[in-house]
Amino acid sequence: MRSDAPRIGILVSGTGSNLQAIIEARDRGELSAELALVVSSAKHAPALARARAASIPARVLELHDRKERAARIRFEQRLLDTLLPFRLDLLVLAGWMLILSGDFLHRCRMPVLNIHPALLEPTGNSPVPVLRGAHCVRDALRMELPVTGATVHLVTDRVDDGPTLAMESIEIVSGDTEETLRRRIQAVEHRILPRAIQGYLDHTGQGAIT
Ligand code: GRF
Repeated sequence: MRSDAPRIGILVSGTGSNLQAIIEARDRGELSAELALVVSSAKHAPALARARAASIPARVLELHDRKERAARIRFEQRLLDTLLPFRLDLLVLAGWMLILSGDFLHRCRMPVLNIHPALLEPTGNSPVPVLRGAHCVRDALRMELPVTGATVHLVTDRVDDGPTLAMESIEIVSGDTEETLRRRIQAVEHRILPRAIQGYLDHTGQGAIT
């Protein structure tokens, strides 16, 4: 790995299958970046074991009272205090389940990417509604949509919004359950997320491989 390779921090809250896809893309040479830090918002997240197995420094920062504004402000300050010493170039939300405020996004002074398990822009001739939030796989089934998808986008202060970097549709088939549909969405996520990260690094001039 080049010593001047862009340094990526990855925020996780759960299983970490997208983190694993990033690690494997890096190992295959398809992502030219240093995976400098993983922060988990849950101490029992399986993602932490994946980080440790890949020798990536890992930290846990839990927020116990999500509804209390002062607690959220303190949490974001602790997150900044954790991230900034690592001199990161890019932050990737890979299954991070907490909303980051506009103030945090401004103060972290680096672009932030997110992977979202739905389409965030209307597509094709039969546009489907944009689904935001944590239950959009269930919502797609409940609304009996013909397709859903996966989107990688830049994070702004509007939740599950911001410029799209990669997006792919996934057909919903008869008999799909939340589990079968999520599995197919995640297979797409694992493919498009590392590519979108590398594409973004290339586009912003940080990704040139020497
Ligand atoms: C992914 O489906 C992602 O779209 C959503 O949270 C899930 C995280 O899965 N934001 P994992 O922890 O990467 O396995």
